[in-house]
Amino acid sequence: MIAKTKMVLLGPPGAGKGTASELLLKDVQLAHVSTGDIFRAEMKNGTELGKLAKSYIDAGKLVPDEVVAGMVASTLNGEACKDGFVLDGFPRTVRQAELLEEELAKSGRTLDAVVLFDAPEELLLQRLTARLTCRKCGLNFNKIFGKPKVEGVCDHCGGELYQRSDDSMETAVNRLKVYNEQTAPLIEFYTRKNLLFTVDASLPKAEVYAAFLKALN
Ligand code: AP5
Ligand code: MG
Repeated sequence: MIAKTKMVLLGPPGAGKGTASELLLKDVQLAHVSTGDIFRAEMKNGTELGKLAKSYIDAGKLVPDEVVAGMVASTLNGEACKDGFVLDGFPRTVRQAELLEEELAKSGRTLDAVVLFDAPEELLLQRLTARLTCRKCGLNFNKIFGKPKVEGVCDHCGGELYQRSDDSMETAVNRLKVYNEQTAPLIEFYTRKNLLFTVDASLPKAEVYAAFLKALN
């Protein structure tokens, strides 16, 4: 179904990286590596890593590069990533991108594609502040753009839906600022490597997904 199986999903918070991953993983068997999801699981379990991550996440800041890169490296070398992977929300700085390249090179691998999900800031803030996330399975819903069948309940697993602590207006605005300053330089970084494909993420989900699949072929 897709030709490119080692990919990075790039884009501002709320662009739809998680949503595109959910759709792709229904159709294709690949490892989904979302650094945000990993941190949220660690926070839920109250681990040391979770406590460290929480202090950055709640302020809308990035967790330090070496912490994130070390965490991803061990996952990438696991059996689950052998046939391909979707890196959702990593790398987020040029330093992380370099560390990723070094890690993949150790096993003779390179990326096949970097897909940029692009949407205007006003829409991103609207999506983020209306997002609902399942406490149990992590699936995303939205008070405006994709309501669950039963209010407050996940359609997929029946789990409770909650608002992420970093989806307040104040933190969302900070996250966008951090994205523009620290993550947006990756657009040029990957354009120079001929790996970047841009998808208009302001379109309805089905159209975004179709464009995403096209980028992977
Ligand atoms: P992370 O969880 O990765 O958050 P993010 O990048 O801010 O991205 P989001 O999950 O908010 O957005 P998304 O693009 O996945 O959008 P979604 O599909 O949910 O990271 C959280 C934090 O962890 C970071 O701030 C940082 O502190 C830390 N962290 C993580 N990785 C790190 C790293 N590499 N380095 C350092 N720190 C790191 O969609 C949003 C909403 O819109 C949903 O409600 C969805 O239903 C809706 N929606 C999506 N697409 C559409 C559409 N086409 N039409 C209508 N509605 C849509
Ligand atoms: Mg996400």
